[in-house]
Amino acid sequence: MGCKSTLVVLILAFSRSILAQIPSVKSFISSSPSSSFTVDSSLKIVVDSEFAQNGSPSLAGFAQTFHSDLQSITGLGNVSQVQIGKAPSDPSVPTIFLTLGASKSANLTLFNGKTSNEGYEFEVTERLYTIRGVSTKGAWWGTRTLLQQVVLSIANGTNPAVIPTGSGADNPGWEIRGFMLDVGRHWFEPSFLADLCVYASFFKIQEFHLHASDFIYNEQTLLGPNWRELYSSFRFQPPSDSPIFGLVPELNESWTQDQFTTLQTTCSNHGVTIVPEIDTPAHSLVISKWKPELRVEGSPDLLNISFPETIPTIKSIWDAILPWFTSSEVSIGADEYDESLANDYITFVNEMNGYIGSTSGKDVRIWGTNEPSRTEKIAENVTIQHWWFPGGSIPVQLMNQGYSIINSEQVFLYLDGKFSDEGQFPWTLNLTRLWSGAPGGKGWAPNIFSADDRTNNTSVDNPLLRGSIMALWNDWGNNATTTLEIYYQLAQSIAVLGEKTWAGSDVRESGLTKEEFEKIYPILNAAAPGQNLNRATGLPAGAQVFNVKNVSTFPFKTEFESVGPPYTFSFSVKPPPSSPPIHNGSTSTPLFTGLDSIFYLESMTFEDPATNLRYDLGFDLTSEVFTDVEIHATINHTYAQLNGGEERFYWTSNLSIWGEYFQLVNMSFAAPSHVFGAEGFGGELVNVTLRLGEQ
Ligand SMILES: *[C@@H]1O[C@H](CO)[C@@H](O)[C@H](O)[C@H]1NC(C)=O
Ligand SMILES: *[C@@H]1O[C@H](CO)[C@@H](O)[C@H](O)[C@H]1NC(C)=O
Ligand SMILES: *[C@@H]1O[C@H](CO)[C@@H](O)[C@H](O)[C@H]1NC(C)=O
Ligand SMILES: *[C@@H]1O[C@H](CO)[C@@H](O)[C@H](O)[C@H]1NC(C)=O
Ligand SMILES: *[C@@H]1O[C@H](CO)[C@@H](O)[C@H](O)[C@H]1NC(C)=O
Ligand SMILES: *[C@@H]1O[C@H](CO)[C@@H](O)[C@H](O)[C@H]1NC(C)=O
Ligand SMILES: *[C@@H]1O[C@H](CO)[C@@H](O)[C@H](O)[C@H]1NC(C)=O
Ligand SMILES: *[C@@H]1O[C@H](CO)[C@@H](O)[C@H](O)[C@H]1NC(C)=O
Ligand SMILES: *[C@@H]1O[C@H](CO)[C@@H](O)[C@H](O)[C@H]1NC(C)=O
Ligand SMILES: *[C@@H]1O[C@H](CO)[C@@H](O)[C@H](O)[C@H]1NC(C)=O
Ligand SMILES: *[C@@H]1O[C@H](CO)[C@@H](O)[C@H](O)[C@H]1NC(C)=O
Ligand SMILES: *[C@@H]1O[C@H](CO)[C@@H](O)[C@H](O)[C@H]1NC(C)=O
Repeated sequence: MGCKSTLVVLILAFSRSILAQIPSVKSFISSSPSSSFTVDSSLKIVVDSEFAQNGSPSLAGFAQTFHSDLQSITGLGNVSQVQIGKAPSDPSVPTIFLTLGASKSANLTLFNGKTSNEGYEFEVTERLYTIRGVSTKGAWWGTRTLLQQVVLSIANGTNPAVIPTGSGADNPGWEIRGFMLDVGRHWFEPSFLADLCVYASFFKIQEFHLHASDFIYNEQTLLGPNWRELYSSFRFQPPSDSPIFGLVPELNESWTQDQFTTLQTTCSNHGVTIVPEIDTPAHSLVISKWKPELRVEGSPDLLNISFPETIPTIKSIWDAILPWFTSSEVSIGADEYDESLANDYITFVNEMNGYIGSTSGKDVRIWGTNEPSRTEKIAENVTIQHWWFPGGSIPVQLMNQGYSIINSEQVFLYLDGKFSDEGQFPWTLNLTRLWSGAPGGKGWAPNIFSADDRTNNTSVDNPLLRGSIMALWNDWGNNATTTLEIYYQLAQSIAVLGEKTWAGSDVRESGLTKEEFEKIYPILNAAAPGQNLNRATGLPAGAQVFNVKNVSTFPFKTEFESVGPPYTFSFSVKPPPSSPPIHNGSTSTPLFTGLDSIFYLESMTFEDPATNLRYDLGFDLTSEVFTDVEIHATINHTYAQLNGGEERFYWTSNLSIWGEYFQLVNMSFAAPSHVFGAEGFGGELVNVTLRLGEQ
């Protein structure tokens, strides 16, 4: 007993590890119990001149992004510019050296033994922190590791940050580590999607799957004469002289090629590939609106594949849009088609696969769909994204037949925007579920497809298991969520997926427990660089952001474009003599305007400027007298209290759930903190205070 505890003490004294992070690093061996590398403002970043221009993005390009991330994370505004040069031999200041050529012996292969270019090694001495990628992307992930160590060190009370000396090796367990967003049923500005890429990249996510065409399901309307009224979308806006221009139902809810290219570039500059999906031959209401003659009679969400014009039309859509994409793979959707038309379906998938392969060289993915046929078989170079069992696909069987699989099993990996019918999906990925499983194990990983049937799991080294993509669907459309509410649901889920797809669950000693994950995640979420989806102010919790006693001239501007929840926003307002009721398209005067929300006195209305939707309380304040208004918000709701009263008035939305029933849900708005009033505001506004935190 005595011996054993001495041994433990010795190990603790001689091995100082790096701090646990997300995803966890595969291995690190400390070289000295006491020495460390200090990240302070004297630091230099050097890119190996031999490899600086390698890759796209280049090593030097990644280094620039790293430089600005490091500055924002440390608050050091003056880290000197990135240099291109040789490996410094005995640097006089702490130097980060980015290079390529990780050694073969580091075994930076996927769990199935396949090579991966995303691994890296790192070696830390007191003055030199070397990151050696297998490729530029590997080096990029190495910079994310360094940044997380800096953040966690500072959070642990060590500022400037220190990183223990030693050497490490790290690489992903699986090739595909992604998240899917249903951008078909909900409109998103490209800038938000770019911010999501940047955020996800901090957790070494390498893929953003965009489900970019769909419609909102309502059986009664779909099957009736008014099916054209259902919301549908195709987000890629071709030029006006394109033969498919008429496909886009609302130009104001589509991305031009320039906008999309900018988004795609921002993502790839952060190591994230956009994989686009155009979903046919089911989920195709948008095509039926454009060319009604192609629909299955009575089911306008399905296209009749046997019409001679159907496949050529779908090919013409891909012809127009394929050149936009830099990814080597695209998804043609191909889910939930009629099982009795299996041969048509399989012919369709194979023909599109052949066409896309031969015209662009890109590989094709489809969603797992049960389409039983005795005569036809889907081509083996099609990757199948499994998402459910009943009536869907059985991944173990498909892998036995030679298909490559991506695990998007809904039991573990699905979310729905704001509300889930019958509580089927959680609000954010269920950590309890993702950390449950075999006794003593660390829970779910991409090789696990079933929560209750062991025979449906495969082993971590299955060569046909490519990885995993989590998914957030927007079944209830634009009016269910603001853009930022989608981020609130994704934020932690993306980090969990990063851990589980990089480190796996039971393969590596270093994999995180649920408790470790929960401890580190909030620190890393708050520090994730390159975007500000939390709409954080940089002020501490509970701080007063502003307190403006008297606003005499309108508009009045603050330096805060938008402030994320939780917050309390209070003011006293005397509305002008008469406030005409507002309706969409009217020119009423906002009382407060911010980047993510606009507030009008009329009907006490919040507007979401991204979707132009309005949410009101349905009453007006008494004109010509002061009312004290306090708006309280968390990521889950926003409510007002008036004149110090107890009653809470919640901003809500009434969602149509499949057209079967209505569901009232709360809305969360960021504070419209940027501009008070507008020219010509005829009322009075005093004591405008914004405080962080829930009060
Ligand atoms: C950089 O800025 C920090 C404060 O942010 C300051 O303490 C330090 O002296 C500056 N270093 C240089 C080299 O200017
Ligand atoms: C390399 O890694 C794989 C997967 O983690 C493992 O199965 C294999 O044993 C390792 N090989 C060596 C030489 O360490
Ligand atoms: C802070 O550092 C101590 C000592 O190295 C370590 O035990 C602890 O886990 C660290 N805390 C965090 C949040 O990483
Ligand atoms: C599709 O069109 C063909 C040819 O007109 C027709 O025979 C078939 O019934 C249609 N399929 C469906 C499901 O409506
Ligand atoms: C996939 O296989 C089909 C034939 O089955 C072929 O036509 C297509 O070009 C292949 N795709 C790629 C990207 O090679
Ligand atoms: C999370 O998963 C656990 C285990 O499967 C389950 O008991 C629990 O109800 C789930 N929680 C939510 C909110 O879905
Ligand atoms: C497979 O599935 C069962 C049931 O969910 C689970 O207990 C087990 O841990 C899973 N993992 C492996 C590697 O079999
Ligand atoms: C597991 O796979 C079998 C076929 O091998 C399938 O019938 C069954 O539905 C799957 N189990 C679960 C829980 O999905
Ligand atoms: C786009 O235009 C349609 C039709 O005018 C409108 O209903 C919708 O709110 C607009 N969308 C946005 C994001 O402005
Ligand atoms: C928001 O709501 C979700 C789902 O009900 C819950 O899990 C989460 O804890 C809530 N967060 C806050 C800050 O209220
Ligand atoms: C929300 O959208 C659904 C589906 O488009 C629609 O039926 C419902 O009326 C909308 N609700 C509001 C409050 O706009
Ligand atoms: C504004 O705040 C001041 C100081 O707290 C208070 O005296 C005054 O009554 C408030 N004005 C209104 C209109 O509530």
